[in-house]
Amino acid sequence: TRVLSIASECAPLVKTGGLADVAGALPAALWAQGVQMRTLLPGYPAVIAALHDWAEVAAFDDLFGAPARLLTGWAAGLDLLVIDAPHLFARPGNPYLGPDGHDWPDNPERFAALSWVGAWVGVHGAGGWHPQVLHGHDWQAGFVTEYLPQMGGGPATVLTIHNIAFTGATDPGRMQSLRLDPWRFHVDGYEFYGGISALKAGLMGADALTTVSPTYAAELMTPEYGMGLDGVMRYRREALTGILNGIDTDAWNPAADPAIRPYDSLAGKAANKAALRAEMGLPDADGPLCVIVSRMSHQKGLDLVLEALPALLDHGGQLAVLGSGDPALEHAFRTLGEHNTQVAARIGYDEALSHRMIAGGDAILVPSRFEPCGLTQMYGLRYGTVPVVGLTGGLADTVINASPAALARDVATGVQFSPVTAEALRNALTRLCQLYRDRHTWSRLVANAMAQPVGWDQSARAYAALYARLAAGR
Ligand code: ADP
Ligand code: GLC
Repeated sequence: TRVLSIASECAPLVKTGGLADVAGALPAALWAQGVQMRTLLPGYPAVIAALHDWAEVAAFDDLFGAPARLLTGWAAGLDLLVIDAPHLFARPGNPYLGPDGHDWPDNPERFAALSWVGAWVGVHGAGGWHPQVLHGHDWQAGFVTEYLPQMGGGPATVLTIHNIAFTGATDPGRMQSLRLDPWRFHVDGYEFYGGISALKAGLMGADALTTVSPTYAAELMTPEYGMGLDGVMRYRREALTGILNGIDTDAWNPAADPAIRPYDSLAGKAANKAALRAEMGLPDADGPLCVIVSRMSHQKGLDLVLEALPALLDHGGQLAVLGSGDPALEHAFRTLGEHNTQVAARIGYDEALSHRMIAGGDAILVPSRFEPCGLTQMYGLRYGTVPVVGLTGGLADTVINASPAALARDVATGVQFSPVTAEALRNALTRLCQLYRDRHTWSRLVANAMAQPVGWDQSARAYAALYARLAAGR
């Protein structure tokens, strides 16, 4: 099957979160399943700079405000289609935010352009290549199904929800600049509470919807997690499936990771832990060294860690944090690191340090309030760094809680807590410290975690089957 993946970020070229990891990993994972996936990306400076063996395959007189070109080419091993539209994408830094830290005001048009070109390739092909399925990611690809009918219809469509919290909402006055059909501004179209929503458009229009874990698929249909779109999700429940993300098991392989001292069992973690402590300025301690690698946002529940921390420190535990985002959280962790000898904080984004932290930690904390899938708990599993996670979304699907029954059957891989509150996290941290002190139990937890499959095999098969079914239905 020939599939065009339509994404606003893609690792290793441009990344703000897990969406980039997934968009970057899918083509190789699916190749093994007989799927030929190419990826359509905005021509950000980092993408244009990395592009090689490229050719122009189309030109547009007016792509949302100025002329633009469509290029094919390769970068970082990825088979790409790139929108060369300097008026929209030749901006440095983060793909969504201006230098003031706020969304670019023309983000609706920028990603409408991504969707529009995606639809165009669906209808006209690119250099003789014709996709059978258009697979969009999040709201940035939401308008594909609005543009296809304007262009005379096209191939089958899939939309993946990586995070329903981002809806691409804007005011109805932009209908024309977004090239939307005014007749579709209604409850079965792109209208959402009186405004325009790119995500809603895609949720209503796509032939198939997926999200990144089975538990999140079920959660999306509830008012608690649906963020106002739960009614839409219930309406489209037949079209929705949850397909768990995998991680890149080559980039995240403790036995061959160039960023760490490679290891394949619990014993090998000691050298990494010592190195991490030295790097972070943490002393020796009796309790577990917990790490966090995360965007700092309300979603990730890091404020709960600030509240529950005494439960860890009182049992001799330590905390090392790497993250950036919400300035209040950055400030709180920075201050904590400066004043508490058992806590270290690095504010920023640092790929190599993230590997050293996950290799050197005993446990990784992911106390998310909601988590569509989550990747860092899977890095933790693979690196024998016991995940401590909220019982929600992909965190529920990837970790086996160290309950008495799971311990007795020797299948436990981590600690889950519910509800996601500071109180429950406090109890989870206390439990973690008890487990850590029982050396036999701890070594079984680590071994089970490291043995759990976290790659793409099974999920790639699920995507391939979905594409084949959609392509056959046309
Ligand atoms: P989300 O996409 O919601 O941020 P995920 O767990 O799916 O959550 O993906 C986050 C990705 O970003 C992971 O690959 C994680 O390692 C990475 N990451 C997050 N913060 C940092 C950071 N400060 N430094 C390095 N990598 C980070
Ligand atoms: C989103 C979600 C995260 C998920 C990632 C990749 O960023 O917040 O849970 O792992 O997308 O699907």
